[in-house]
Amino acid sequence: MVSELLEIEVRKALGDYKMENCNVVVSNRPDLCDYQFDGAFRLSKTYKKPPIEIAQEIATSLQSSSCFEKVEAVHPGFVNMTLSSAFINQVLEKMRKNEKFNLPKWEQMETYVIDYGGPNIAKPLHVGHMRPAIVGEAIKRIIAYVGHKVIADVHFGDFGLQIGQVIYGMKSEGISIEEVTLDDLNRIYPQMSKRCKEEAQIKEICENITKELQDGSQEYEAYYQKIFALSKKDIKRIYQYLDVDFDLWYGEMDSRAFIPLVESVLIESSLLHESEGALVVDVEKKEDTKEIPPLIFKKSNGGYLYGSTDMATIYQREKDFHPNYILYVADARQSLHFKQVFRASLKSKITDAKLEHLGFGTINGMDGKPYKTRSGETPKLDDLFKEVEEIFVASKETNASMTEEDKKKIVNAILKFADLQNNREKDYIFDIKKFADVVGKTGPYILYTYLRINKLLKAEPFIEEELSNKIYNEQDRYLRLQLLGFHKAVLDAFKLRLPSTIANYVYDLCVALNTFYQNNRISGLEDAKKKQDWLTILSLANQILKQLFYLLGISIPSMM
Ligand code: ARG
Repeated sequence: MVSELLEIEVRKALGDYKMENCNVVVSNRPDLCDYQFDGAFRLSKTYKKPPIEIAQEIATSLQSSSCFEKVEAVHPGFVNMTLSSAFINQVLEKMRKNEKFNLPKWEQMETYVIDYGGPNIAKPLHVGHMRPAIVGEAIKRIIAYVGHKVIADVHFGDFGLQIGQVIYGMKSEGISIEEVTLDDLNRIYPQMSKRCKEEAQIKEICENITKELQDGSQEYEAYYQKIFALSKKDIKRIYQYLDVDFDLWYGEMDSRAFIPLVESVLIESSLLHESEGALVVDVEKKEDTKEIPPLIFKKSNGGYLYGSTDMATIYQREKDFHPNYILYVADARQSLHFKQVFRASLKSKITDAKLEHLGFGTINGMDGKPYKTRSGETPKLDDLFKEVEEIFVASKETNASMTEEDKKKIVNAILKFADLQNNREKDYIFDIKKFADVVGKTGPYILYTYLRINKLLKAEPFIEEELSNKIYNEQDRYLRLQLLGFHKAVLDAFKLRLPSTIANYVYDLCVALNTFYQNNRISGLEDAKKKQDWLTILSLANQILKQLFYLLGISIPSMM
């Protein structure tokens, strides 16, 4: 990484000054310099000297380094660095010649289980389900790219009341297991969910069915199997559309066999105690500033809950994969649930993996409330895909003649890039018109940029050769500097589990590419070396874009 290379230079320049961390960061004033060091402020406290004096000493000493064209100390104590063309090109050469654009290798490969998607069986997928699928898929691809082992598990919600509700609905309508259809499920679930809210008696019946199913009732198991199969098939179809895939298509039900095992561990370690008829695990800690209620492991009617299956699943994952990390991409509003599960699991030592809840925010409409259609419903994903496609097709005459495959890729890019450019923890406003526009920070914009450069590269065949030491103008320099940011974007996305770091980098790189493209004509250039250098840089940029699109789950259409 460039900042690390520069840190080595700064460390050499420190002379007798001692400091642990000498971070060099990308300048936020690109008009003044490329990178900046602000350690003089900290040194000034230790060495009782004005920061500007220290900054001057460091700057003077850095001047001899070939990395820089200019190093300046500026008030009140910053060291501003402008990179030399030779240094920039050297780094670019390494990126060009090495695997993964010379991304640093991890010393140790670790195993990650990533749990994302989490759709609930028997409930139709709606816009809210898109986020965990898109964000989770990107995080999975990023972790694999930096060099770790990742196992993705969809973790269907198939243990809850909705199953009892649908079984009850089928039985009372006289729909048999053989004849039930997906449309029946989509109709019955909302009906029954409404009825259970209104009639306590019905709710109790549904709860009992759920409990009997959990306990292994043969009759209900047959219903469940059919409901699961129908629903899973439809969910898989939608995930396939979204290019989202899993190694494991397990559900909460698959953890059933491990519940008794976890229960005995909890009993053996005296962590389970009775509270109002239920068996619970205390998880509060002294340092808590808010009350953290106990995790309810077993209800008074003997039934198990969301927390119990999550613990059982941890047990199962530990046994199967012995992971170093288990990551959960799940709604930020579930943070208390995960806190309880993680604490109970670590306390009972069913795992020693690091457990992380990667929360995500809500997709809102213009009114700031969860996104609804004009008629006030939560839109189904199928309808949403259709709507996005229609808006995109209507935006330009020639779009209508694109192939179905290309249209699908663009719909994906529109939805994914709109989502992934936001920090996953934040809510965002869903505005299809804006997302589908080819102008702005959008999926169509980044794809269009790639395709435009690709067309140029195809029209101007060239043989790859070493870059010369030159940089030819401002837009050229700016583009090369952007390319140097690749490693930081990827590594930050990995460490922070934030695909937005990559999405934002992709956008910045596209802006630099377009600015370069609009101001510099390549075809017909007489200076052969200059032409060669530029084509090499553009080719590197497009290879990087392609790789990063993949990490974001975005595929490239054949044309636009
Ligand atoms: N099915 C859950 C929901 O709809 C999400 C599951 C998240 N993963 C987990 N292991 N709890 O909210």
